[in-house]
Amino acid sequence: MASPGACSDMPDNHNTEATWAYHDATKHSYASVRAHQHFLDWANQPLPFKVYPTLEALSLPRQVRQTGVAALSAIAARIPAETNAVPDLQAVAELLYLSAGITKERTHPGGVIYFRAAACTGALYEVELYLVCGDLPGLDAGVYHFAPAEFALRRLRAGNYRPALTAATGGESAVAHAPLTVISTCTYWRNAWKYQARTYRHFGWDNGTLLANMLAVATALGIPARVVCGFVDAEVNRLLDVDPQREVAFSLVALGHMPALSPQSSLNFEPLRLETVPLSRREVDYPLMREMHAASALHSPEEVAEWRGGAPVIDLPPPAGATSQLQPLSDEEMPLDPIDQVILRRGSSRKFARAPISLAQLSTMLDRATRGVPADFLDPMGTQLNQLYLIVHDVTGLDPGAYVFHRDRGVLECLEPGSFRAEAGYLGLEQTLPADAAVDIFFLADLRPILQRFGNRGYRAVQLEAGILGGKLYLAVYAQHLGATGLTFYDDDVTRFFSPHAAGKSAIFLVAVGQSARGKS
Ligand SMILES: Cc1cc2nc3c(=O)[nH]c(=O)nc-3n(C[C@H](O)[C@H](O)[C@H](O)COP(=O)(O)O)c2cc1C
Repeated sequence: MASPGACSDMPDNHNTEATWAYHDATKHSYASVRAHQHFLDWANQPLPFKVYPTLEALSLPRQVRQTGVAALSAIAARIPAETNAVPDLQAVAELLYLSAGITKERTHPGGVIYFRAAACTGALYEVELYLVCGDLPGLDAGVYHFAPAEFALRRLRAGNYRPALTAATGGESAVAHAPLTVISTCTYWRNAWKYQARTYRHFGWDNGTLLANMLAVATALGIPARVVCGFVDAEVNRLLDVDPQREVAFSLVALGHMPALSPQSSLNFEPLRLETVPLSRREVDYPLMREMHAASALHSPEEVAEWRGGAPVIDLPPPAGATSQLQPLSDEEMPLDPIDQVILRRGSSRKFARAPISLAQLSTMLDRATRGVPADFLDPMGTQLNQLYLIVHDVTGLDPGAYVFHRDRGVLECLEPGSFRAEAGYLGLEQTLPADAAVDIFFLADLRPILQRFGNRGYRAVQLEAGILGGKLYLAVYAQHLGATGLTFYDDDVTRFFSPHAAGKSAIFLVAVGQSARGKS
């Protein structure tokens, strides 16, 4: 079926062979990592920041206000969509700092690593943030780039481009009403330097962890937020004036609510031809990723409007094995550490102590992280594309074994009891972290109904959702003074491990949780 608005020479979002080709070609297996050893060219390491050397930097306020809102509430709740709210410059600064700001620096023999607020594969930070806003208190209408190194904005365009963005999203209501929309772009080479063609999956993961923080901070500030994955790619890229061979718009977050301006695609915006500092002396191209991105592009506002909403219903079969009810902490027991403090102390565990966590802690993180993501591909609210499978090693009150999480029933179904530390270490790309963790939480998805409904762009959506849920889990874990890390994995071995229950599903994401070996997080 050709999509409305698609020209015959453009890839068709509904021809999903492109996704299967990309997904299969970028699977890790025991054999593939041995056959394709990749050595890092340190002399050609990309810059971690996009730099516009000719534009003036507008400093952002550095003082982060204490929100006082508990992280475990901020990740689980959301502000009703039509709550009037216009973020001011201070709120803009907090949203940016707590999702993509530099929160730690570590010096090593090769230089300094600037760690950022959200977890990111390889600490390579391929996600850039741009703002499209009307006049906000303290910030003039315009299109801006966020520069985390200086904690500043650079204005790319002056004026109100909200109607152009509304047009590019096919009149998406949240964008139409949003005084501010943050656009995330992903830069291929910055991550592909290390991860090669698998980087396209990382776009969703790393953008997702960042958005988990942004959504939680927005909630803490009383600002409604909605993730928007449906937009005319070429229009948004053109508005930001990014070179789509190198950097592409991946997601939008509409923030706040005010009267809508009508969509206007005819707004005049010329190419900017702004100078940017090259990331490396030379870049290596991995065409597979660009092909995957092109195959999932939407080409017209009509195609976007048809694309969004109506997520497929993907139910698990009713539990057939023994089940354990989640036992989340009570309100009195719930840690109240505020979202800003939890984000600032988060950092991926580099080693886990082989020590238990409690069923109450595990239940709390599962419950709070999976209460729904406001997104244009997850309507009705509460829909979830990924399903959670667990390997429990050391959770007090729960026998070790393989489990699947029934979110609707609030139960964990045991698929196979047993001690699987060695298997978990193997599945997590033969690393010790998943073997030493208290529990490994795998995200699997049945891509067939997702691609059937959303076409190739469903692949972006499912990876992004996994990143957001993974990011929420990180926050729920650190709110409880435990440790977590994202991990990569041997794709088909993960599916095999959880089969027959998981037969036909694809491994999408993995988070290991436990007690950090270096004491309390
Ligand atoms: C999706 C994802 C996958 C990751 N995979 C691994 C991994 O396989 N091994 C590892 O040691 N760390 C992994 N990490 C952790 C990153 O290396 C870490 O987030 C990054 O260095 C930034 O540090 P921070 O999380 O402490 O801020 C992963 C992180 C994410 C978000």
